[in-house]
Amino acid sequence: MKSKYLPLDDQLYDYVCAHRTGASDSVLDALRKETESLGDDARMQISREQGSFMTLLVAATGAKTAIEIGTFTGYSSTCIARGLPDNGRLICIDESAEWTAIARRHWSQAGVEHKIELRLGAAIPILQSLDLKPTLDFAFIDADKTEYDAYYELILPRLRANGLILFDNMLWGGKVGVGATTDPSGQAIDALNRKLAQDGRVETVLLPIADGLQLCRKR
Ligand SMILES: C[S@@+](CC[C@H](N)C(=O)[O-])C[C@H]1O[C@@H](n2cnc3c(N)ncnc32)[C@H](O)[C@@H]1O
Repeated sequence: MKSKYLPLDDQLYDYVCAHRTGASDSVLDALRKETESLGDDARMQISREQGSFMTLLVAATGAKTAIEIGTFTGYSSTCIARGLPDNGRLICIDESAEWTAIARRHWSQAGVEHKIELRLGAAIPILQSLDLKPTLDFAFIDADKTEYDAYYELILPRLRANGLILFDNMLWGGKVGVGATTDPSGQAIDALNRKLAQDGRVETVLLPIADGLQLCRKR
């Protein structure tokens, strides 16, 4: 049987990136360049087509209130904020003042800073301090992999029915599902993928976008 998936090479990946709305975007391109100058840490930034996908998803679902765990230099938050209406709100959580200072500058250049509220600190206590009401429409989880399940359990009761949660890096560089994953992050991701697939509270699909995106809808 012919495979129903397509391995990408650099040429095909460039084609994917080139054929989307806003393929050349001066603010996001400048942010990528500045982030690259950070060296190895730059690999934490989400990919271009993932950013476009998230903008589209936020807009298509009419999300007004969103949350992001793991902001870094602001690529994903800029993409989420762009999909929100002008009076929409995005709460960004990150423990790094240094990296989010770069994010702040680019939010301003993208004209989305009025939609974003940055909360600096450890994600779990900040999530615990949020109102326990189902007010969130959209959540993006991209911080400490060993804490993903805790973020999930704290966000789910605060998410409205049909709201979406996206988890990044859920294929963990292709290391999940191919024998025993030994590092704690990989193990946590594998355990969460298994849990989500059986969790009656959500409908979920693991998409092979970038490093793997779990897309969950609250029932
Ligand atoms: C993978 S990066 C996020 C990338 C970002 N979404 C982007 O598009 O560029 C992970 C971020 O999570 C933050 N982080 C890691 N553990 C955290 C924690 N326990 N609480 C808050 N932030 C955390 C780090 O400071 C880092 O900026």
